[in-house]
Parts: sequence; C-alpha cells; structure tokens
Amino acid sequence: IKRVTTHSLQEMKNRGEKIAMLTAYDYSMAKIVDDAGIDVILVGDSASNVMAGHETTLPITLDQMIYHASSVVRAANRALVIVDLPFGSYQGNSKEALNSAIRIMKESGAHGVKIEGGVEIAESVSRILTAGIPVMGHLGLTPQSIYKFGTYTVRAKEEAEAQKLREDALKLQELGCFGVVLEKIPAMLAKEVTDSLQIPTIGIGAGPHCSGQVLVIHDMLGINKGFRPRFLRQYASLYDVMNDAIQGYVNDVKSNDFPSEKEQY
Ligand code: KIV
Ligand code: NA
Repeated sequence: IKRVTTHSLQEMKNRGEKIAMLTAYDYSMAKIVDDAGIDVILVGDSASNVMAGHETTLPITLDQMIYHASSVVRAANRALVIVDLPFGSYQGNSKEALNSAIRIMKESGAHGVKIEGGVEIAESVSRILTAGIPVMGHLGLTPQSIYKFGTYTVRAKEEAEAQKLREDALKLQELGCFGVVLEKIPAMLAKEVTDSLQIPTIGIGAGPHCSGQVLVIHDMLGINKGFRPRFLRQYASLYDVMNDAIQGYVNDVKSNDFPSEKEQY
C-alpha cells in the first residue's frame, strides 16, 4: 500500500478530491480507521477529553501525546499520521516548539505535527518547518484557548475576527504549512479561506466547502453518548452496541450460562 503524504493531500485538493481525516489515539482503533481507508489520522489532543476524561485539552502532556502517537503509528500502514502539539509544549518560544516537534517525530514515528494559532506562532511554525517537519495549522475555535474564549460556540462571526482568520490562514500558507484545520467557523468564511489558499483546508463544523473534513472518532461512532452538536454526523451508536454486549456478558456470567461446555478445556 502506498502511504498518503502531504504531497498527496495537495494533489487531492488540486483535483477536487475531498480529504477524509479522523482522530485515533490507540493501536486497535487506528488499525480499524486505517483499514477503512482514511487519508489522515490525527492524534488529537482531544485525547485529553475522550481518553483521559478531562474537561479540556489543556492537561494532556507531551509525553502522553507521544504515547498515543506511537501506538497509532504502529497501526497505520496507509494513513498520514499527524500529532497535535499539546498546550504548554510550544508557547514558551520557538526553540521549545521545535524541541517538542522533534520529540514527537523521533519518539513516535509520526509524519507531522499540528499546532493551534496564527501570526502569534509564526516564528515557531517557521522553525519547525526549517527542520523538515511538516506542519498543519489550526484556526477558528482553538480549544487550547478555551479560557480566553469562554465558550465552545462558533468563532469568527464578527468581521474583525474573520479578517484576522483570513490573514492567519495566508500567513500559515506563506510559512509553508501543508494544510490548515478550520474549526467551528461560518461555512461562507471557510469557503472564502479555502478558495484563497493553494493548500488544503480541513473543516470541523466549518461547512462543506473545505478541502476535507475531520471528526473525533468517539463522536462519529457514538461512543460519546450525550455529545450531539449540530456539526456532528453520528455514523454508529457504539455506546448502545457495547452496553448491550457488556450487559449480555454480565447476565451470562451471573446465570452460569458462560462459559459453556464448548468454552472450556
Ligand atoms: O484534537 C482534535 O481532535 C482536533 C480536531 C478536532 C481538529 O484538533
Ligand atoms: Na486538537
């Protein structure tokens, strides 16, 4: 199987083929995602929420991200594997950002990093890129800044914030990013940005005009039972499937139905 590369993503945008991206954080899930034909696996810092149970993405550490990423890399034969730089691993200065990106690449074997922010982090993005590490941007709702925003509602509805986002996207492209995630912004703004850039945009809650889409795997599989925001399409109800299976097991054990004659030595 031929590995998806940042170049193949650019070719996909050029020929109008949409890019399909999902998160994964462990070997078994990443294996299923990769076998199903996903183009990009994101080892997102959403692991902080869905794997560790934190309320925000802020607590997850670089070491924990590297653990998740190395598990995913061992499973991914075709997908490009991109890893989030977690909160606190790059904001200090560009040298810290570069060191964090290098640790991710060396210790996990991933193929690139994603980093939240625009012009403020230009120096860090540029320094990571200079080391030959592919970088993906992330604009709009950037969850590591949740305590600045105050809510997880849609971003850049006001013109001033929309204008900054347009400039940030162009800056990230100029620096050499291979793509940019647009999270929870109006569909028309996402279309404008996508049309203004050569590099692909990957949307989440950003409408149909992006070059590709990304979702958190636990959300789209319905493992996160209560979570049903407007932008989410739920493709399965795995919470119910798994709950039924586990209840069946509990009942079988308690009723002496399991193990049976054929399930013993
Ligand atoms: O951490 C994550 O899952 C993400 C995607 C939602 C883009 O950054
Ligand atoms: Na993230």
